[in-house]
Amino acid sequence: MPDQPALPFTFEVLYGEGITLSQFDNHIIRRLSNMKSHFLDNAAYEAALAQEDTVLYEVYEIHRPEIPGELLHGLSIVHPGKVGNEYYMTKGHFHTVLETAEVYYCLRGQGCMVMESPEGDWAVEPLRPQTVLYVPPRWAHRSVNTDSKEDLVTFFIYPGNAGHDYGSIEKQGFRKLVVEVDASPQIQDNPRWLPPEVR
Ligand code: PA5
Ligand code: NI
Repeated sequence: MPDQPALPFTFEVLYGEGITLSQFDNHIIRRLSNMKSHFLDNAAYEAALAQEDTVLYEVYEIHRPEIPGELLHGLSIVHPGKVGNEYYMTKGHFHTVLETAEVYYCLRGQGCMVMESPEGDWAVEPLRPQTVLYVPPRWAHRSVNTDSKEDLVTFFIYPGNAGHDYGSIEKQGFRKLVVEVDASPQIQDNPRWLPPEVR
């Protein structure tokens, strides 16, 4: 059945020990086992997975039709932790419709957004409470939680027709990794990454 035309609505961001939404349609849970090949240190990944299939991040989505003109929105929560020395992070993706942007607003925690264009340009921007992050059209994006204790919580909004393209990130990862060195986050080159002209 086609979606009914939308009536205006409101809902609340509920602040407690955790942050959640008063209303949502979909709760996505991503565990270690969903993140195969995303972390550089595969031995550390397999060892962690053998211990426990930990939840790395969660997404609460408001359902909207996946068409231009609509705006998909919801809450992303990346839990604290590391695989080897690489912080917990989302898979990351390009939008299937490459020319679509996204806005993130950080509600809680400390981290960053790792981004890159298909041409290999890259950027890493900080995420902390009150930060608004604009991801321009064409830029892949991944949230990274660099705090040792607190969740990284962001609210996101993007066009209804954007879609998620995980393929190229799954193959070789982002150009830059965010790892812990001497108890601080550091941006490093990803040795698996190849420039577009030699892929
Ligand atoms: O569309 C977005 O960028 C977000 O809703 C993400 O989907 C969310 O943060 C989870 O990340 P990913 O889709 O890369 O697993
Ligand atoms: Ni996105």
